[in-house]
Parts: sequence; C-alpha cells; structure tokens
Amino acid sequence: MSAPLLELRGLSGGYEPIRIFEGVDLVVEPGASIGFFGPNGHGKTTLMKTVSGVLEPWTGDVIFAGERLNRAAPRRGRRWRNFNYDLVTRRRMDPKRVARAGLIHVPQGNLLFPEMTVEEVLDIAPLAAAGRVPTRAAARALREQAEALFPRIAERRLSKIRFLSGGERQMVSIAAGLMAAPKLLILDEPTLGLSPKLRRELADAVRAIHASGVPLILIDQDVGFLSSLIDRLYLFDHGRISRRLERGDIPDHGALMAMLFGEAA
Ligand SMILES: Nc1ncnc2c1ncn2[C@@H]1O[C@H](COP(=O)(O)OP(=O)(O)O)[C@@H](O)[C@H]1O
Ligand SMILES: [Mg+2]
Repeated sequence: MSAPLLELRGLSGGYEPIRIFEGVDLVVEPGASIGFFGPNGHGKTTLMKTVSGVLEPWTGDVIFAGERLNRAAPRRGRRWRNFNYDLVTRRRMDPKRVARAGLIHVPQGNLLFPEMTVEEVLDIAPLAAAGRVPTRAAARALREQAEALFPRIAERRLSKIRFLSGGERQMVSIAAGLMAAPKLLILDEPTLGLSPKLRRELADAVRAIHASGVPLILIDQDVGFLSSLIDRLYLFDHGRISRRLERGDIPDHGALMAMLFGEAA
C-alpha cells in the first residue's frame, strides 16, 4: 500500500473556548477524490480551515506527503487570565507552510478582494502559494490551463471581482487554487448559490482538474454533484465523521438525509 497523501490523526479544534470538531481521523490516498456531506453549521468548514492552518489544531496531527505540518508541542498552561498569549505563542501550524507543501484550500464563500481584477488574482496566486515568483513559462502554462477550463473567466480577465456573478467568482477562486499548482485541492461548497447549468459547468471543470492528476477533497450540499466526482463520501455531523460510504453505496439526497437525521426526516 502506498503512503497516504494526507492523514489526519485525532484532530480537534474550534473557536476558543468552543470546540467545534473532535477526534477526526482520515486517510486520503494519492490520487483519491473524497467528499464530505453534512448539515450546515456542524463544523466542516472549521475542520478544513484547521487542516490548512488558518485555525490552530487543538489536538492531533495533520500529516501531508509524509511531513507533519503542525508542531507537536501541547498547548501550554495559561496562568494569567487577562494576558493575550497569542501575541507571544508561536503558532503550532503555519498556513504558508501548508500552501508551500501544495495543500491548497479554496475556502467557502468567495473570499476574493472585490477591487482586484481577475488577472491580478490569477497572477498573484502562484506567488502567494509558493512564496516566490514563478518563471514566466510556468506562470503562462498554469494560466492557460486555468483559462482552458474556465473560458468564461478568460473573457472577463480585465474585470474587477466585484462586477462578476457568483458563479464567475467561484470559477476565479478555483482557478486561483489551480494556479497554486496543488498536490491536493480542497473545495469548500463550490456550488453554493449556483444555478443547475452553472453547477454542471463547474462539475465538468472539477472533473477535468481531477483527471489531470489533482486529488480532491470536496465539500458540498449537492449529492449529485458530489457523487459524480468522488470515490468515497464521509458523512460529517456534530463535529465528527459519522459514516463512510464507497462510491457505489452513495444513496440519493433523501436517503442520505435519513441516514443523518433518522427515518423521520
Ligand atoms: N469565526 C467564527 N467564530 C466563532 N464561531 C464560528 C465561526 N465560524 C463558524 N462558527 C461556528 O462554528 C460552527 C461550525 O460552523 P462551520 O464549520 O461553518 O460548519 P459547516 O461548514 O459544517 O456549515 C457553527 O456553530 C458556527 O456558528
Ligand atoms: Mg461550511
């Protein structure tokens, strides 16, 4: 068996002092494509923000391509109640290091700067992820790949983000993730608020991304979208993985909701 690409071991975290998720163990093999499905507000986004180092893990480890991305040191005791420890404590996990390792997280909800143009966002993405300017040839190759996947955003290259539709913004976010040359791409609710037609377009693009060799973690509320793209689905509720379903065993939306909430749902 080959070594896992990503491994989470006993991960817990949240927003101090509220724990949002706990005891998450997960193995993603190289080349895999996995999905997460679960009710709103149960901690999927918080988990992914912790995996990518935006939030600090409370316990557990994040191991990516054989490298532990978090420091092992347990949280130190807090002696003074009114002292801001965050000012002096070294972070246990550095999101820059995560991105540099190739673990790229496209967050939920279009967090692009509205005053930047599409071109500026795409140009800055490889620099931000790698921490250095890519060669012109590498940047051009990445840009061409992104524009071939999303012809719609190639047309809007000089437009500011704030003039784009929700679907176009989502495409720019994913294209920016691709420009970072991901070894694993996390997409958090990419179809949120999109029309069925745009969902199909997006599904085709995401399928092409996976076919080009990029492993995926997909979080979405659209079961059809998910099951057309993934090998395995994790049900996530109350801050825990509650069930694992292989591709062939993923039922329709109603049956999944019944699994999550009981037959009465
Ligand atoms: N920045 C934040 N500060 C405090 N609580 C938050 C923050 N963001 C989300 N939460 C809370 O964390 C819980 C999990 O939210 P989230 O991870 O977004 O769930 P999901 O992605 O599954 O919908 C919710 O109760 C939400 O209100
Ligand atoms: Mg979410």
